[in-house]
Formats: sequence, structure tokens, C-alpha cells
Amino acid sequence: MAPIPKIAFSKTHLPDSGTVAVLTDSKLGFSGSSKKLIAGIKGFDRIAKAAKFVGKAGSALEIAAPAGTDIDRLIVFGLGRGEGDPATEWVKTGGQVLGKIGNADKATVLVDIPPGLDDDAAKAATDMALGARLRSYSFDRYKTKKKPDEENGACASNLTFALDDEAGAKKAWKAHLALADGVDIARDLVNEPSNILYPEEFAKRAAKLVGDGVDVEILDERALKKLGMGALLGVGQGSDKESRVVVMRWNGAKSSKAKPVVFIGKGVTFDTGGISIKPAASMEDMKGDMAGAACVVGLMHTLAGRKAKVNAIGLIGLAENMPDGKAQRPGDIVTSMSGQTIEIINTDAEGRLVLGDVLWYAQDRFKPQFMVNLATLTGAILVALGQEYAGLFSNNDELSANLTAAGKAVNELVWRLPLADAYDKKIKADAADIKNISNGRDAGSIIAAQFLQRFVGDVPWAHLDIAGTAWSNESKPTIPKGATAYGVRLLDRLVADHYER
Ligand code: BES
Ligand code: MN
Ligand code: ZN
Repeated sequence: MAPIPKIAFSKTHLPDSGTVAVLTDSKLGFSGSSKKLIAGIKGFDRIAKAAKFVGKAGSALEIAAPAGTDIDRLIVFGLGRGEGDPATEWVKTGGQVLGKIGNADKATVLVDIPPGLDDDAAKAATDMALGARLRSYSFDRYKTKKKPDEENGACASNLTFALDDEAGAKKAWKAHLALADGVDIARDLVNEPSNILYPEEFAKRAAKLVGDGVDVEILDERALKKLGMGALLGVGQGSDKESRVVVMRWNGAKSSKAKPVVFIGKGVTFDTGGISIKPAASMEDMKGDMAGAACVVGLMHTLAGRKAKVNAIGLIGLAENMPDGKAQRPGDIVTSMSGQTIEIINTDAEGRLVLGDVLWYAQDRFKPQFMVNLATLTGAILVALGQEYAGLFSNNDELSANLTAAGKAVNELVWRLPLADAYDKKIKADAADIKNISNGRDAGSIIAAQFLQRFVGDVPWAHLDIAGTAWSNESKPTIPKGATAYGVRLLDRLVADHYER
């Protein structure tokens, strides 16, 4: 949608035009072709000194039309570390470098690792390229006058990374590209307004994964009724738009019989709160109440795109929570697919109702190795963790540890919060088996997680409450303001590090 840079890798060379970026350390050291280029620039040391540039991490020195060269612009990018410092976060660096390059037509990054650092150049190049791609996204489908946005969507049209190990970089780039595309798919889905993206349309977009080699099955309301998904259907019954569940399957493991890993997303395409209607302020944000489902679609694209050696199943529960004459009421009792009856105390606690049925269906039909669900489930998780960490709830320590490690590796962080019987007691209902909220507002995110746990049986399971992390109010090096696609990189990494064989 938005212009994305054409990314290429080439052999080390000294470009004779365009913008050139080089890397330096905290001693202003250079190596390889970068060293040659800098040595040819008249008065470089004086320029750096006058600009007080010392190569600090994230800082850059920009020189227009440097004397002694034919290039248009030189950007010297500081990595700010010397010998013995921890490894640079190359993905973040790539986003920062693209931010400095801006919308140049042609830019070349010379991937010469500064002296004293021994990072692998192919890894540095491909990670930087990923960072540049992640940075360059913008959602401008509905802007009739397109301007390169200053804050979002910085974009060089042709971005080349030059290094000796061109072949190594080209090979490694394929998986990164599948990941960047998966992230953009998820961002587009979350940014799309709800008048365009309602359950049926969302299902259609998920069905595009067929082109990647993913099997896609769409369950309509008739099929959901037959399955007994009364909790999910209750959420959608006040909307003109029909509900859907989509099942996506990627069979990449050597054995088609290998137990699948299962990812489940909350896909409430708009959440008015239903009859327990939300206040008007910021209600527009509820177009993003399908970020969990968007993440699962983006993830399935990535896994298929990089031919991950895993059997993975994605399931998304799609419904629109609206208050009309057919809407469910507080006090209504519905029967879930699991057989448990649920008293609806608050129609705004709808995500857990959607997920309860999909979780049950997933473990019943697919007998997974584990299931991870993602959901913009509670405002309370924003109170607890803000936009920095997602809430992690799990019945399994190993899965939790793997998720925590993967989160650290890609900077999509999770923080584990408890589950306990004492909380479960608080959702026992007077008139049904369980109710969808507790009395009072205490521990709102845990109560919601506790509700979900009622539908997972014995399967290792983790719930990520992404109500805080799905959306960013500020631009970051690799995340433009808006939909973050939180979870795509995290779960891709989880699979890559622990579950491929
Ligand atoms: N979709 C909301 C949660 C949410 C809030 C997501 C803010 C993103 C930002 C969810 O369906 C909801 O309304 N939860 C209620 C639960 C309450 C009624 C127990 C909430 O958090 O207020
Ligand atoms: Mn709600
Ligand atoms: Zn919701």
C-alpha cells in the first residue's frame, strides 16, 4: 500500500551517486569500503569535530555533497560502542538509519562492521533491512492527496546494502521478507476501518493466504450454530454483520502427523460494548479490537512464506459487538460449545466469550502441542503494564519461558501475571455455570484470563493480553504510530527457536 523501499543486497562497492550511509563506533573507527570513502573526504575530521559527532548510538552526522566524492549525501551512523560492548540491535539500527535517509531516491548502506566489533555482516545487513522495512510502513489508503509523511513512512525508493557476503545476505533475507510482509498484513488489517472490515470481509482477506500455500476454511453462522458456539454467536447477534470463524493451516513439518501448534486471535471487528455500551471518548479505537486476529493472519503468512518446518494452525473468531434490537442483554444466559452455560453480566466483556468457544473448538478438534491466544482483552492490562509489555497468562511454565525469551529477542515484551483458583471462584454465577465478569473491578485482566482458562482443558496454553501493545501512540524506530502488529515477530521467533523440526 504505502511505498515500500526496494531492498537489494550487492557486493561491496563505492557508490558514485545518491545517498550513502556508513557505520562507525564510539572511536569514529571505520573499516573496509567505508574507511576508503571517509579517507577520500576532504576535512572529514574537522566536520565531525565541528558537529560534535562522536558516534554515539543512534546519532548521525550528515554531510551534503561531501568534497572529494561524487555522492549527494553522506550519513555517518553511530553505533556507539567499542570493544566489549553488547551486540548492537541491528533491526532497531536499520529503522534509525532509514529515518535518517528519509525519502531519498537511491541510497546505499555500506555494511562494513566498524573495527573492534565482530558481528556477522550478513546478519547485520539483513536485520537492518528488516528494520528499514518495518520503519517504512504507513497507512495511506484513504488519503486522496499522498505526501511522503515526515513522521511515518520514511522511505527511500531504492535501498541497497553493500557487503562482501552478498550471497549470505540474499539467502537470509527471504525469511526476513516473509516476516516484514506478515507484519504489514497485520498492520493493514488493524488500521482498516470497521465499515470496510467486518467479519465476512476479514475472512475474505484471511482467505488470501491460500496464495501462500495455507489451507483456509471459513465457518459461517450456520456452521457455528451446528458446532454449538452459543457464546461467540451471542456477541455478534446485535450486528447486521454475520460472525465467522476462520481456520488456517500450514503443514510444514516433515510429518503431517506431527502435533500442531495453534494460534488463536480475538477478532471483534468493532466493539461498541453492546447494550453495556462504551462511553464515546476514544470509542473509535475499538476498530482495533481485532488485533489478535490480525496478528494470527500475519503470522500464518510469515510461517508459510518462510516455509517454517512446523504444522501450525491459526484460528480467528470474528464478530461485531453492536447494540440493536436483537442484541444480547445483561442477564442473558448462553450455552458455549464446551457445554458450560454463561451468564452475561456485561455485554462489553465480549472478547472472552468469542475466545471461549474458539479455544474449546481448537483443543477439541486439533489436539495441539500448545495453544497461544492473543486478544485486546482488557483495559485493565493498560493500567497494569501500559504500552510496553503484553500480559502473559499461562498454565505452563515452559511455554511461558519460551514466550518470554522470544519476546526479549525481538523486543516484543511479555510479563507473566498469575492465575489461581481464588480468582476462578469469582466468576461462579448464581443462575449459570459461570458469569463473564466478577463483582467489582479488581484484577480485571486476571479475571478475564481465568475465564479463558475454563475453555482450554489440559492443553499447554498461553494468553497474551495485547490491549496495551497492539497500538502505539508514538513513532518508534521500527514502529510507525498506529497498529504495531505486536505478536507477529514474537510468535514467529517462538516457532523458529523452539518448535521447528
Ligand atoms: N476490547 C475491550 C478491551 C480494550 C480496552 C481493548 C481498551 C483496547 C483498549 C474489551 O472488550 C472490553 O471492553 N473489556 C472491558 C471488560 C470489562 C467490561 C470487565 C474493559 O476492559 O473495560
Ligand atoms: Mn468490550
Ligand atoms: Zn473488546
